[in-house]
Amino acid sequence: RRKIIIDTDPGQDDAIAILLALASPEELEVLAITAVAGNVPLALTSRNARVICELAGHTDVPVHEGADRPIRRTLVTAEHVHGKTGLDGADLPDPKMHMAAQPAVEAIIHHVRREPPGTVTLCPLGPLTNIALAFERAPDIVERLAGIVLMGGAYFEVGNVTPAAEFNIYVDPEAADIVMNSGTDITILPLDATHQALITRPWLDELAKVDTPVARAACGWLDFFERYDMEKYGGAGGPLHDPCVIAYLLKPELFEGRHINVEIETLSELTRGMTVADWWGVTDRAPNATFIGKVDAEGFFDLLLERLARL
Ligand code: BDR
Ligand code: CA
Repeated sequence: RRKIIIDTDPGQDDAIAILLALASPEELEVLAITAVAGNVPLALTSRNARVICELAGHTDVPVHEGADRPIRRTLVTAEHVHGKTGLDGADLPDPKMHMAAQPAVEAIIHHVRREPPGTVTLCPLGPLTNIALAFERAPDIVERLAGIVLMGGAYFEVGNVTPAAEFNIYVDPEAADIVMNSGTDITILPLDATHQALITRPWLDELAKVDTPVARAACGWLDFFERYDMEKYGGAGGPLHDPCVIAYLLKPELFEGRHINVEIETLSELTRGMTVADWWGVTDRAPNATFIGKVDAEGFFDLLLERLARL
């Protein structure tokens, strides 16, 4: 069983990712959920994380509040994608569950130091602020990690927030740069992969048939979430970005990628937060990440459907 910490800015697709993890206790032990400012401000992402835990019946998983802004930049949010609450699409009650007292960065450090070396995997689903701050405050935790599997960046699919950059990396490029150069084992699920995991109508119809409170909320969220991408890109459905991270942990055989060098652009305004990925190996820079380029979409949705139905 792999121990994970989910660092997140929910977000409908973050919500589905968290549900997928909580529905997979045989493979994954969620040590903590740490909230970060991203899709919406921190007060909402930390609230939303607790709403999701309560919906899943997992108030035992502590939710910690992290950074309310990027390391050096002004916070950029994405209400145009996720709605005013960040979780528009399903009407759920305010959470009764309390926020854990420990701040997120301390919680990350605490868990990684307490668990045996090589057993904790960090799963960032939003801007990398909390992770970078933890690495800066406690450099010793980096080599104790099993690794990081994150959603962020883009190469062939380039940007969704600017022509050059993906949202999570764009929001806090300095944090992403710290993480990418940390030396830990990193797997990246970029837009190139997540744009293959589209919620199509037939798939949403399948989920609707499950007809549990969790499936109903998930349908409401995804129905809201897909509108933005379908209008914008004219695709077959909204991309399930963040659930790809958890699916990768559960079934890596559904994904294909390359171990390559990935650097983050922090200096230019035009290409801020671009993930400069040496996919073709045209430099002699050392590989520092596995960059996923291909997803078996059908296998992914079968897994998601089967797991969500368990909650
Ligand atoms: C990423 O940005 C957020 O809007 C999503 O939750 C996802 O983590 C996609 O670019
Ligand atoms: Ca996210």
